[in-house]
Formats: sequence, structure tokens, C-alpha cells
Amino acid sequence: MPEIASIILAGGEGVRMQSTLPKVMHPLCGRPIIDYPLNLAKDLKAKRIVVVTPPAKENLLSRHLRQFKWVSQVVQPKSLGTGDAVRVCFPLLKNFKGFVLIFCADTPLLKSKTLKLFVENVHQTDATLGFISTRFENPEGCGRVVRNASEIEKIVEEKEASFDEKRIKEINTGVYCVKSSWLFETIKALKPHPFSEEYYLPDIVREAIRQKQKIVGFFGEDPLEFLGINTQKQLAVAAKALRCRLIEHWMARGVVFTDLDQVYLEADVSIGKGTILEPQVYLQGKTVIGKNCHIECGAVLKDMIVGDRVHVKPYSILEGSRIEKEAVIGPFARIRPETYLGKGARIGNFVELKKAKLGAGVKANHLSYLGDAEIGAETNIGCGTITCNYDGVKKHPTKIGKKVFVGSDVQFVAPVKIGDGAFIGAGSTITENVPGKALGIARGRQVNKKNWSQKKKKIRN
Ligand code: UD1
Ligand code: MG
Repeated sequence: MPEIASIILAGGEGVRMQSTLPKVMHPLCGRPIIDYPLNLAKDLKAKRIVVVTPPAKENLLSRHLRQFKWVSQVVQPKSLGTGDAVRVCFPLLKNFKGFVLIFCADTPLLKSKTLKLFVENVHQTDATLGFISTRFENPEGCGRVVRNASEIEKIVEEKEASFDEKRIKEINTGVYCVKSSWLFETIKALKPHPFSEEYYLPDIVREAIRQKQKIVGFFGEDPLEFLGINTQKQLAVAAKALRCRLIEHWMARGVVFTDLDQVYLEADVSIGKGTILEPQVYLQGKTVIGKNCHIECGAVLKDMIVGDRVHVKPYSILEGSRIEKEAVIGPFARIRPETYLGKGARIGNFVELKKAKLGAGVKANHLSYLGDAEIGAETNIGCGTITCNYDGVKKHPTKIGKKVFVGSDVQFVAPVKIGDGAFIGAGSTITENVPGKALGIARGRQVNKKNWSQKKKKIRN
């Protein structure tokens, strides 16, 4: 590979998105669109990576880019077209002598394999300029590659194309690899187009032809890689295509999808071999799932770490937590951030956990809220148990030891501690600590009043 610098074009206004969010900050399978081209440039080991951004001072895109120390940002003061966007990079790259690889920030499906092949090709033929074209069945909106017989003549934009040119299906993908010295000389001489008053980067192709420079026209075999995102519809199409790619990737590694069209996966998710994903499963963020798990219909997992052989039953919502192997969750369970479930723990329907640490084999099978709680191994939490962790100002902890038996409908008014092996009577409101092995019971005694209903009737009459 030759030495390359990369320019990623993201300076446009993205008006066709009809959105207040900058175009390349729209999420695509869990990452902002811009992260895909950034990763590509990094993969290609570009010596410098320059992103052209729009001028808004404190815009979301600039802030996002600042976290990548290896990226330089250049503000394009006015959206004067892709040619102008490259021109504003000159001060940063004027001492760079290799090839400049330019591509648009809005084509996130591009693969580094394709780019490497392309750059190699341009380098080996010692061309001044290379660009990638492909064939779109519906080329609407794209620049068309006009050829004279088989020789490339120019690239013409849709809005300036003649009737015949509009019928051309070979399109410009917006990917170029150009010798830096020639690039910046040529860019300086570009003229704005009378129709749009913009400087068009594709005009460098026409100029290279005019100067009889060596050109590589590289044909991209898979048109999907070059899908540009200009509209919400194209974003949805790209998301679907990327999801299919991710699903294929995991299927090749032994993950089972019972319905390919109905699983939503994000790009940073990882899934172990033999795991079964049912329809309507949604895996988000940096979720890591172990081997041979079963994730049933409608489960949503975000930033979760899940051990091997875990079973998540339908419609459970899990976030920001860790689950050890062989645990069973749901149906209809909710795990909120900072929760830990030990090996083989069981969380049943309508149980909500928040910042709860449950030891191995703990069971909380029905209708409970356990928040800011620590529960020792093999403890049983009865139906309807609640940790009353909030006093209106502060959150307080509940600590329950190992092998504790908590009866149904118990409230623990935190802060409170229950020792190992204790029993808590059903219906208790526990406000004081219970020592290990003791029975804690806190409820009114039952009184049965004889013939009470008949007496009440007389009073009424
Ligand atoms: C562009 C190409 C077109 C090609 C298509 C492929 C031009 C004139 N047209 O059209 O030939 O078929 O990409 O997807 O280049 N940008 C800036 N500054 C600007 C304008 C745009 O940085 O002043 C950036 C945008 O943020 C975007 C990229 O350049 O990421 C392409 O701009 P866009 O407006 O999407 O151009 P297309 O109409 O898609
Ligand atoms: Mg575009």
C-alpha cells in the first residue's frame, strides 16, 4: 500500500434528510453514520485523516469527532460543493506527498477490502487519479459516468444531465484516490457550476482527461457498498442492508436466527456460537452474549454482558448489567443498569431489578422490585417483595444474606440488613435488622370477630 492521507467529506448541509440532526450523526445500527468512514480510514492506516465539517460553531458532529484524537477537523465555511470541501483541506495536507483518498461520509456500507484493492490498483498503475464507479438500477440523484465508446469522458451530475445522460446506470460513487500535488493544483483551478454555483469534485476527472493524465476507473462490483445516504429512506435501506450483513456474519459463526427478517442487531454486539435468537429480539450497544443462550421473542438487551446458557424469556428488557451463566430471566422481567445476577439465578415475571447484586441461585420469581439491594446466594424472594430504597431524598441499601427465605408481600424499608439463613414472615414490613437464622415478622395479628356480619346488618336496618 502506498502512503495515503484520507479526506472524509461531511461538510454538506444534508437538507434532504429533513432533520435537525447533522446528516452523518444519524444512528445507523447503533453508531453515528460518520463512525463507519472513520473506521475505514483507520483500517487503511491513513497517515492523516481529515474530516470536513459544516461551520456551526458548537455542532454535535464537531463534538463527536473531538473524541477521536487521530482525526483532524477542517471547517468548510460555506457549503460550496464537494470541490470546495477538498480545497479547504489544503493547508493541512500541503506537505503530504502520497495519495489522497477522498470519500463521502454518507456512504457507510463501503468495505475496507474494496478500498484497499482500489488504492493498490491506482498505485500500481502509477495513475494520477483513480475513482470508483458502479452500476445502480435506479441511479436517480447520482453523478453519471459518461463514456465515449468505452473511454471515460466526464462525470455529470443528475441536475445537469441531459435526457440521454440520465439514462446511464453507471454512477460515480464519490470515492477518489489522487496524487496530492496534482489534486491541490487542480482543485485551485475549479470553476463553480453556473446552475448550482457549487464547485464539483467530480470535475477533477474531466480535468485529468483533458490533461491526458493516467486515470484508473475502478468498477465496484457490489452496488450496495456505495449506497449514499441523502434521505431518510436511504438511511432505512442502508440500515436494513447493514443488519443483513451483521446477521450473515454471526450466522457464519454458529448463531441461530429463527427469523432472519425480524432480529435487530447493532454493529458492536457480539454473540456466542449456538445461541438462538427468536423474532423481535433487539440487541443494542455493546451487548456481549455467551454460547448456547436462548433469547426469546421480544427481548431487548442493551449494553449487557450475558454468560453461557442463559435463557431470556419473552418481552424482557435488560440494560447495562451482567448475568452469569445458566441464569433464567422473564418473561416480562426488567433489569435496569448496574445489576449483577450470579450463576443460575432466576428472575421471573414482572420483577424489576436496579443496582441489585444477586448471588448464585437466587430466586425472585414473581412481581417484585429489588433496588440498591445485595442478596446472598440461594436466597428465595417471595412474590410481591419490595425494597423501599428511597426516602424521598436519598437512596438506601438493603442487604439480605445467603439462604434467606422471604415470604410473599414483604417490604424492606432500607437501610436494613437480614442475616444468613433468616426467615421473613409473609406480609411483613421490615424496618429493623433481622439476625441470621431468626424469624422476622412484622404484621398485625389476625382477629376473627364472631357473627360480625349479622350484627352489622342490624345496625344498617
Ligand atoms: C455526490 C457526487 C456524485 C456522486 C454521489 C455519490 C458531487 C458534486 N457529486 O453527490 O457525483 O454520485 O456523491 O454518493 O460531488 N459535502 C461537503 N461540502 C459541500 C457539499 C457536500 O463536505 O459543500 C459532503 C457532504 O457532507 C457529503 C458528501 O460531501 O458527505 C457528498 O455530498 P452530497 O451532497 O451528498 O452529494 P451527492 O448529491 O450525494
Ligand atoms: Mg450523497
